[in-house]
Amino acid sequence: MCGIVGYLGPKQAYPILIDGLKRLEYRGYDSAGIATLEDKATLRIEKKQGKVANLEAHVGNEKPKGTVGIGHTRWATHGPPNDINAHPHAGGQGHLAVIHNGIIENYEALRELLTHRGHNLVSETDTEVLAHFIEEVQLTTGLDLPDAVRTALKEVVGAYALVVLDQRHPDRLIAARKSSPLVIGVGQDNEFFVGSDATPIVAYTKNVIYLEDEEVATMHRSGELTIRTIGDAVVTPEIHAIELEMASLEKAGYDHFMLKEIFEQPKSIRDSIRGRIRIHAGESTVSGVDDHWEVWSQAKRILILGCGTSWHAGLVAEYLFEGLARIPVEVEYASEFRYRNPIVRSDDVVVAISQSGETADTLAAIRLAKDQGAHVFGVCNVVGSSIARETHAGAYTHAGPEIGVASTKAFTAQVAVLTVLAMHVGHRLGTLEDQQFMRLMTGLDNIPGLVEKVLDNAGIIEHIAKKFAGSDNALYLGRGYQFPVALEGALKLKEISYIHAEGYPAAEMKHGPIALIDEAMPVVFIATQDEVYEKVVSNIQEVKARGGQILAIVTEGDSKVRSLADHVLEIPKVDDALAPLLTVIPMQILSYHIALMRGCDVDQPRNLAKSVTVE
Ligand code: M6R
Repeated sequence: MCGIVGYLGPKQAYPILIDGLKRLEYRGYDSAGIATLEDKATLRIEKKQGKVANLEAHVGNEKPKGTVGIGHTRWATHGPPNDINAHPHAGGQGHLAVIHNGIIENYEALRELLTHRGHNLVSETDTEVLAHFIEEVQLTTGLDLPDAVRTALKEVVGAYALVVLDQRHPDRLIAARKSSPLVIGVGQDNEFFVGSDATPIVAYTKNVIYLEDEEVATMHRSGELTIRTIGDAVVTPEIHAIELEMASLEKAGYDHFMLKEIFEQPKSIRDSIRGRIRIHAGESTVSGVDDHWEVWSQAKRILILGCGTSWHAGLVAEYLFEGLARIPVEVEYASEFRYRNPIVRSDDVVVAISQSGETADTLAAIRLAKDQGAHVFGVCNVVGSSIARETHAGAYTHAGPEIGVASTKAFTAQVAVLTVLAMHVGHRLGTLEDQQFMRLMTGLDNIPGLVEKVLDNAGIIEHIAKKFAGSDNALYLGRGYQFPVALEGALKLKEISYIHAEGYPAAEMKHGPIALIDEAMPVVFIATQDEVYEKVVSNIQEVKARGGQILAIVTEGDSKVRSLADHVLEIPKVDDALAPLLTVIPMQILSYHIALMRGCDVDQPRNLAKSVTVE
């Protein structure tokens, strides 16, 4: 949600800012803007509605000069996407500029106060209020900029990651965060980089500092960096080395990041299980569980939290944990959980799932669960992310950076890690017998190779996509382990192709959705040969009897469903518990091609952002 980039050092800032904004564009693409200090004295702000390319076109050959600057790519919260609401925002006197990610909850009260004091605000954003408010504090107190920022932030309610540039202090950049991520890169030659995440920084330095909540950093051209809390406590910066490789941030010859990420799944699943299952030794290891075994062994309940695709992975985990470890599970939307006055006990284990590790709702739900005494285990993809740092323990998915807004490889990596987790806990508890444990470990180890096999059929899926690309609606149905996959398939389709799609447990169809079935309704069934196969076949017959267009994902060699469905896609036969790792792949490819055929922006679908750091 909104991307932030900043630079201070000996180089020209503009190319670094533009490159950084392009890398951060997946966080929001409603508008883009930059502010630089030309001749170390003149604040130049350029901003434009739409993507970074629009900003570049607007700037043309008149590229801003200067060796310090800030840049922003927006996902609109307050005020529509337009040039005026684009960041950076200047204070009323025009000497300071602010970029911001988050939501200032008391912005209306602050706006009223500022208007009363003669400030003229031109945009509808909460960020402009912040810029004016910092300026007002400076004017009325005479405080130096870092102190004025800290003083202003004491009055601010809400979430922020912000960077302030002041033309009267061309040798400094000020950055602060609360509940929105911010990373500082420390380069050579006394240079500093700022980013919402490490992606705009990694090309220049691998040494980063993760700013913590309520910390304000002052970067100086001399190479000096000071961090204080808004309460004025001095913080010693801790430098971390990031492992992110530049190649993982490129499309590598694919037309879209989403397609690249779909095809990376054999590797990302393999990387996510590597070292955790050891077939020859007949063992699994999840150190984040083993280090806290006394909590896991006594857990009365597992509470799973997540949003969107991560919530779907959590639903798969519900079947896994209950089936393999026999621990009762509840899966909650993090956004609902936090506002429901939930009952959390100290013998609950909370599993929080998040690709970005920055989703505001999930983070808030984790904090609530921790406050109520639960042990919180994180399953995150982004190393060093807020959720990874705030949970008691966890297991990273090793999917690598996921840039496409529609989650693909993150989902399968999450399901793979959660499968290992459930097997591991079940085996240690004795609810999963050795033989079944070994069978699942071997099955899981084979999954990357089988995913490759499913990907080999991408051409057939593209062909089927042509039949559905003109539809207005679609229904996705599955049962048992495949119900969450049906939800995920529907989400993939709607978010990138803008076709209205619903996921349902297949048996629920007759309780309502069956009324939607006619010749124009495509119905995607996941009808693999598992425990509920025959029941799903009956559901397929019910749809066929009403003229629905049926696409079925079936087990290799299936003939029964083939005789009923209009189109079938085969996946290899695997254990029921492992099948979601295969059945989701054709759905991802189907959505990708349908979206392309409809002329949609696959990697950056309208209204969405990759990392939802606001409520
Ligand atoms: O980073 P997270 O996994 O916490 O993100 C959760 C959702 O915002 C995310 O899965 C979203 O639903 C994706 N656009 C789905 O493709």
